Amino acid sequence: SIGDLNPLDVRMIFERSAVHFDNNRAGTRAERTLDGATLINLFFENSTRTLASFEIAAKRLGAHVINFSAGSASISKGESLEDTALTLAAMRPDLQVVRHSAAGAAQYFARVTGVSTVNAGDGAHEHPTQALLDAFTLTRRWGEVGGRRILIVGDILHSRVARSNVALLNMLHADVRLCAPATLLPEDADRWGVQVFHDLDEALEGCDAVMALRIQRERMSGGLIPSDREYRALYGLDHARLERAAPGCLVMHPGPMNRGVEIDGALADDRERAVILEQVEAGVAVRMAVLELISSASPNQRYVSDSGDA
Ligand code: CP
Repeated sequence: SIGDLNPLDVRMIFERSAVHFDNNRAGTRAERTLDGATLINLFFENSTRTLASFEIAAKRLGAHVINFSAGSASISKGESLEDTALTLAAMRPDLQVVRHSAAGAAQYFARVTGVSTVNAGDGAHEHPTQALLDAFTLTRRWGEVGGRRILIVGDILHSRVARSNVALLNMLHADVRLCAPATLLPEDADRWGVQVFHDLDEALEGCDAVMALRIQRERMSGGLIPSDREYRALYGLDHARLERAAPGCLVMHPGPMNRGVEIDGALADDRERAVILEQVEAGVAVRMAVLELISSASPNQRYVSDSGDA
């Protein structure tokens, strides 16, 4: 989680990410800092961006990569999560990247196996490398995010991206705002150290960046969920709405996007405003830096929280 990092870790990751970003853009080969290492991508939930960018990041650093998805693994034949984790760990990988629908899954894999583990998204809990790549994208544009007003709008309740972003942006001293209908906000959001809004036009006042989130219908079971039409009318981002933000306000989206719902297609394609593909590009560089960092750290050290609980 972002809580496992301190500001110095983040600075190191960003400095190293900047080197990788420039090299990737220039087509310069990376130093093979993971030469010969083996990385397993263990994805129990679907992914386009995260899976592909961890694979590319690891390969650019010289690692061998094996991708496992839940559908093709023996977990679909009834094997337990613990047996799956121990079986793969017995093949002695150097690193593993875990995505799972359960909060705490990556931490569980790290504890059970002792293998250095990166969380690629655990339920609605955290998606730390997404937050790192988001803040890195903004840092490249602005120099630093401290003092900047950043709004996250949409389905905050089910969003691991929002949780990790709030933790990281607060650590970096940004002025963070959340906007969502009351039904899509966690009950304790007013204790997250952010300003909470329900009205998007009000929330957008003076913002330097705004991040749109999709409604995660796959994590919902009934309740008061707005239709796509209602959501677009109240919380959809478009050029007209953005007039209320600060001049040059950047538009972000972690993907996958639902064009015409949380973001208008013309805005998503406006390269002056939207940095969505820049976020994806930054994702490879940031994950290269994270893999380097995690490969040189003891998993037990990295996954013990401040309270000492594993
Ligand atoms: N942002 C993100 O996690 O996208 P994927 O689900 O495609 O990995």
